[in-house]
Order: sequence, then structure tokens, then C-alpha cells
Amino acid sequence: MKRVTAFVGSARKKHTYDAVHQFLDNLQSLGDVECEIVFLSDHRIGVCRGCKVCFEKGEEFCPLKDDRDLLIEKMMASDGVVFASPNYSFHVSALMKAFLDRLGFVFHRPRFFGKTFTSIVTQGIYRGSKIVRYLEFVGKGMGFNTVKGTCFTAFEPMTEKERQKLGRALARQSRRFYERLVKSDHPVPTLFMLMGFRMSRTSMRLELDDSSFDYRYYKDKGWFESDYFYPTRLGALKKAAGHLFDSIQTRRTGKKKSFDT
Ligand SMILES: Cc1cc2nc3c(=O)[nH]c(=O)nc-3n(C[C@H](O)[C@H](O)[C@H](O)COP(=O)(O)O)c2cc1C
Repeated sequence: MKRVTAFVGSARKKHTYDAVHQFLDNLQSLGDVECEIVFLSDHRIGVCRGCKVCFEKGEEFCPLKDDRDLLIEKMMASDGVVFASPNYSFHVSALMKAFLDRLGFVFHRPRFFGKTFTSIVTQGIYRGSKIVRYLEFVGKGMGFNTVKGTCFTAFEPMTEKERQKLGRALARQSRRFYERLVKSDHPVPTLFMLMGFRMSRTSMRLELDDSSFDYRYYKDKGWFESDYFYPTRLGALKKAAGHLFDSIQTRRTGKKKSFDT
């Protein structure tokens, strides 16, 4: 049995909700999958104050007391996660963005390894596909195995042709998602993912110390010595690329330091 949770960033149960519902129904027809839809509007999600205490001391010191931890627990208890949002002013909705900001520390200390992620974006007219790409980047940054998302246009009322097009897109997306969901392996990181890992750990090593929570987290996880966030087998080329990313970041940090002083 796999567990999938979809987080919906629209305050109304309309197109985004309908598409999520259809996607989850498809998943359930493909195998033994238990699903939950979480409406962000049903939860208390505070607006980040920007104190950065979560980065420096740890997320438990955040001054905001809202449903953040409950939502994270839901993600941790899931094998798969969907972020679904309408396009509002060419970005995710404010609800979804507030939620992502509450998870800002996860980009510093990714944790959703082995879990599958995808996104669904509804738009009235235009630019939703950029939001799908943004959410894919977000998913990767949090440690998920990401599966290409779907953007669709929902005129009101939706035409039959659009409905059919959406149905086909969601059917493809649910198959891709299911295939990833049932795989137990951790994928070998792409060069881009490896670059993110190596550059951020190099700058942490050079710029932070034991007084920083991020630094201690990396140290405790053994990430300053490991090939990647999780055990993986890097080929000779990727190993060499890893060293190259380390030295590029070392040079950049050196330049930044001499500029700062
Ligand atoms: C405040 C607001 C801003 C919006 N901005 C955009 C936009 O920039 N681009 C776009 O294509 N559609 C935009 N839309 C249209 C919504 O993306 C569209 O109606 C979508 O279906 C809403 O999702 P829902 O049915 O799940 O609420 C906007 C809608 C609202 C309410």
C-alpha cells in the first residue's frame, strides 16, 4: 500500500480540486494507493517573518505557531506528494506560497528522499507551465523524486474538448507518477542535482561553523563526506564533476569573502 497526499492551494473546490481528484482516482485504479487531499485553506499557515531562526537555530525555534508541523508530518507519512495550485498573478496562489515559505528551511536541509512528487497547475490563460517548472524545482530542492507535472487551462465553463485533453494529460501524469512511486531505489542524482549538493555543502563548510544549525545538520548526516544526500553510486565522470563543483564553489566563496571584507 502506498500513501499519496495532495496539497491544494485553491480556497475553492473547483478546477484545481477536480483535477487533483481525477489524478488520485487514476492512481487508485493503477494499484494499491491510499489518498488524501489537504486543503491549505483549512489550515493555519502563518506568513514567514523572515527572522531566519529556522536556518540558524532549527525549525522548532520558529516564532510562528501554526499548522506547519502537522502538514510536514503528513508529507513525511506519505510515499508521494502532489502540490496543486491555481495560477494567480502568474505564480502559485498566496496560500501555496505561504506554505512553501513555511518550508523554506527544507531547501537548506532536504529530507523527502525516496518520496515521489508532482504538481498540477490550473490557469485561466497563460504562464502556468512556468509554475509547473517552478514547482518541480521546489520538489527537487526538498529532496523528492520529481515527476513532470501538468498545467491546464480552465475556461468557465470548461469545454468538452478541454476536459478530454485534461483527462489524457492526467492519465499520462498518473502513470508516470505511479511508476516512480512503486520503485524502491533512490535515483542516481543528475549533474544538476549533484551540483546543488556539492556547491551548497562547500559554501556551508567554508562559511559556517558549529554554531549554525544547518552546519550541524550536515555534519550529523555525514553529508560533508558523502557522495550525495543518500548512498548512491556515482560514475567516474560524476565523481570528477563533484570535485569540480567543489572547487568552483571554493573559488566563489573566496571571492565573496574578499569582497565582504
Ligand atoms: C486573483 C486571481 C489571479 C489570477 N491570475 C491569473 C494569471 O495570472 N494567469 C492566468 O492564466 N490565470 C489567472 N487566474 C485564473 C485562475 O488561474 C483560474 O481561474 C483557475 O482555474 C483557478 O483555479 P480554481 O478553479 O481551482 O480556483 C487568476 C485568478 C484569480 C482569482
